[in-house]
Amino acid sequence: MKKKNVFIIGATSGIAEAVARRYAMQGSSFVLVARNDAKLAVIASDLVARGATAVRTQVWAGDDLASLPRLTNSAWETLGTVDLALIAHGTLPDQVRAQDDLPYAVEQFRTNSESAVACMLAMTGHFEAQGHGVLAVIGSVAGDRGRGSNYVYGAAKSAVDAFASGLRAQLFKKGVHVLTIKPGFVATPMTAELDLPAALTATPDRIAADIEKAVTSRRNVLYTPWFWAWIMRIIRFLPTALFKRSNL
Ligand SMILES: NC(=O)c1ccc[n+]([C@@H]2O[C@H](COP(=O)([O-])OP(=O)(O)OC[C@H]3O[C@@H](n4cnc5c(N)ncnc54)[C@H](OP(=O)(O)O)[C@@H]3O)[C@@H](O)[C@H]2O)c1
Repeated sequence: MKKKNVFIIGATSGIAEAVARRYAMQGSSFVLVARNDAKLAVIASDLVARGATAVRTQVWAGDDLASLPRLTNSAWETLGTVDLALIAHGTLPDQVRAQDDLPYAVEQFRTNSESAVACMLAMTGHFEAQGHGVLAVIGSVAGDRGRGSNYVYGAAKSAVDAFASGLRAQLFKKGVHVLTIKPGFVATPMTAELDLPAALTATPDRIAADIEKAVTSRRNVLYTPWFWAWIMRIIRFLPTALFKRSNL
């Protein structure tokens, strides 16, 4: 397999780390961005041990939109060209708290939508100029329909989905591919406190394997694992009269 140049924002995420490990085994070079320097250092040395050619890390917090142009410029300067950019950071908001705590709700909404959208925007000019590569963003199946149990998160991920859809149409004409990744339940720190159904909960490595295949095959939208495409099809098409009475 050809070595890739990989740029990851939210590189300390369980899913992103699993993706990075797969590309490290191919001898890829990385720029890894996240808010926790110590975690980044551990991941960087693990990737080098697994075969990465070079790893540079950079600390950045998701609400620091002003420094995004500098961040992306320096990633492109380091890597030359970017074969794969992955935007992975996010939080799972406490929906009950969000209903009573407006600043918390807005902050969570911004982390999951505005921040990801701003990252895509900051990369757009670079991808247009190089005329190839894949820009992948992690949304969620939750973005397919606002559910009573988590609509702050769902609405934010829905914004990411719509934005990526438009950007895909724009960048396609320039030779660049946009991949929207919609995982279902994944066993990462984000869901560690939740009592998720084991049969529907995937490992980060299972998700990473699907992401790698989707990048290679230039998939537009990836539901991962595959059965979430069918689950969400049912949820999307449930009549509103039924849907609003459900506890989904
Ligand atoms: N796990 C699931 O079931 C699931 C399902 C669907 C979609 N997703 C999406 O998958 C993506 C990755 O999540 P994950 O499951 O891998 O969870 P995770 O392991 O908990 O990772 C979350 C990542 O987001 C970062 N982050 C959180 N708030 C941030 C902020 N304000 N600024 C910058 N970085 C911030 C975290 O940084 P720290 O390491 O510093 O905390 C961490 O890197 C997210 O977009 C999530 O919404 C997850």
